Amino acid sequence: MNKLSKGWLWGAVLLLMACSGKKQPGDDSMIQDPHSYAQPQQVAVKHLNLHLRVDFENKRLQGRATWSIERKTDSDTLILDIRQMAIERVTLSDGEGETGAYYYTGEPDPILGRPLKIALKPDTRMVSVFYHTLPEAAALQWLAPVQTAGGTSPFLFTQSQAILARTWIPCQDSPGVRFTYEATVEVPAGLMALMSAQNPTQKSDNGVYTFTMPQPIPSYLLALAVGDIQFRALGPRSGVYAEPPVIEAAAYELADTEKMMEAAEKLYGPYRWGRYDVIILPPSFPFGGMENPRLTFATPTILAGDRSLVSLIAHELAHSWSGNLVTNANWNDFWLNEGFTTYFEHRIMEEVYGPEYEKMLAVLSLQSLKSFIQELGDTHPDTRLQLDLAGRDPDAGMSLIAYEKGHFFLRMLETHFGRETWDAFLRQYFETFAFQTMTSERFVEYLREKLLQGNRELERELRIQEWVFEPGLPENYPRIQSAELAAVDSAVARFRDGAAAGELATAGWTTQHWLYFLRRLPDPLSIDQMLDLDRTFHFSDSKNSEILNLWLQKAISAKYTPAYPALERFLLSQGRRKFLRPIYKKLAETAEGLELARYIYRKARPRYHWISVNSIDPILQWQSL
Ligand code: BES
Ligand code: ZN
Repeated sequence: MNKLSKGWLWGAVLLLMACSGKKQPGDDSMIQDPHSYAQPQQVAVKHLNLHLRVDFENKRLQGRATWSIERKTDSDTLILDIRQMAIERVTLSDGEGETGAYYYTGEPDPILGRPLKIALKPDTRMVSVFYHTLPEAAALQWLAPVQTAGGTSPFLFTQSQAILARTWIPCQDSPGVRFTYEATVEVPAGLMALMSAQNPTQKSDNGVYTFTMPQPIPSYLLALAVGDIQFRALGPRSGVYAEPPVIEAAAYELADTEKMMEAAEKLYGPYRWGRYDVIILPPSFPFGGMENPRLTFATPTILAGDRSLVSLIAHELAHSWSGNLVTNANWNDFWLNEGFTTYFEHRIMEEVYGPEYEKMLAVLSLQSLKSFIQELGDTHPDTRLQLDLAGRDPDAGMSLIAYEKGHFFLRMLETHFGRETWDAFLRQYFETFAFQTMTSERFVEYLREKLLQGNRELERELRIQEWVFEPGLPENYPRIQSAELAAVDSAVARFRDGAAAGELATAGWTTQHWLYFLRRLPDPLSIDQMLDLDRTFHFSDSKNSEILNLWLQKAISAKYTPAYPALERFLLSQGRRKFLRPIYKKLAETAEGLELARYIYRKARPRYHWISVNSIDPILQWQSL
């Protein structure tokens, strides 16, 4: 039988078998993840043995993924997710011999990719998929040497969250499926490979690296980075990786990592992953940070030189509990990962840098939450914590709502119950549900049982239902006062009233004072005001990415052209979506701005990650050009 007819026959068989799985009520597998084809309630993967060769010339990962499986029903089909991937062959093993397998791949969906359906035999224990990735695989960014800090070696990094793991490993790509893994990765000699696993600190002689991840993780936490990478220890169980020209600055910036770990453990229980390291990636990394277990991936734009942007490390570290231990069951409940993490991040920052500092961060958080809700409208369904993302790219739901509305919901509970009770509750939550998944409904149930103790009156008073399932910001959100930022408000008022920039009392201001200052200034400012501010405070030359980001937006509104060289440099020198999107958006508001944006984007686009390109193209209507 040829491959095609095998495929058709197999397709028909699968169709007949559909819906035959038995489901246990109350079991997570009841919930079908709208963003995965996998049916883990029937056959689930348990362990991955991965072999990959990293081929920079052809921008290709070549190898095999061997999955140990667990059968939960009498179903004889394993369904994996794949996208932008070429399957070479599939074999089955009963633990001893190997045989070829019948498999079938469905029609590709632009967001979800395709199911890879593999026919199992009664004695099948392991399934090996031999495959290679395609150059356009969305999770992979292949960097030429000129796109790195060192300039002499290529670099590769992955970004699997939310549903991109399937573009580099055939997997059950749902956060509700956990597995352990081991891997062997071959890279060109002279480069180092790192994963979300036990990692080397030295380069190997032959370019071969082996990894183990003994704790079960979901697929979105699979990660790989390859390049000319060095290691520097920070503490007994923490360290930093970066390209050689960046390692010094990285080690300086992240010096407080061990303190953050201690603070986090004191709050919510032991760190369960062994080591905590961070890698500072090349500047095209599209996110600020990514909580890959044991090895956070981070943007170099946090290297401000004064440790003022390290709340990002507190955030990614906090995910070691919220997200990596207790995981959202699917992307509709993304706030359970990010809202808990943002709350926890603030607690770590308070512990390490003091309550006044944390209050500044909280005021900034609340400010962005309010303006986000105002922009979207407080009845918009995407301002709910629990979302409905079926049929949409999960990326669409990854907004400030999950982070900040989630954060302020938990903060409201903390305020009501008091720290002692609340912290004990959270500690127990992480302990009870460690290495499991969570849904909004289950969290509310747990809250009811352990914290509200069945008090329905109190539940209504605290507006629990409204916070989790309804749009907008409930009336009982916690109000935050920061004396530090109140002083900034007075400075802003004076400047509005005509005082010169040089007359403002800005001595001792930190990054957070400046960020608040920039946000509170009128928009647009006059050219004279812009000139005065720039001459006095040198914003256009700021080395702080967050400050520069806000300043450049003001420059665009005011048509303050002296900042345009800095604007172009910023857009060309980094690819973090959080900075690119608002700047390009603001430029696109006027005809001249749009022209400038397109002129810069033409040069910058090839350097950006697909994730950023995907967000900027529509803003500049790039495809239709
Ligand atoms: N897990 C997220 C990043 C992410 C979210 C990647 C959704 C893909 C899909 C990470 O923990 C995160 O939140 N990063 C933030 C920084 C943080 C300090 C708010 C970022 O990248 O901006
Ligand atoms: Zn996060």
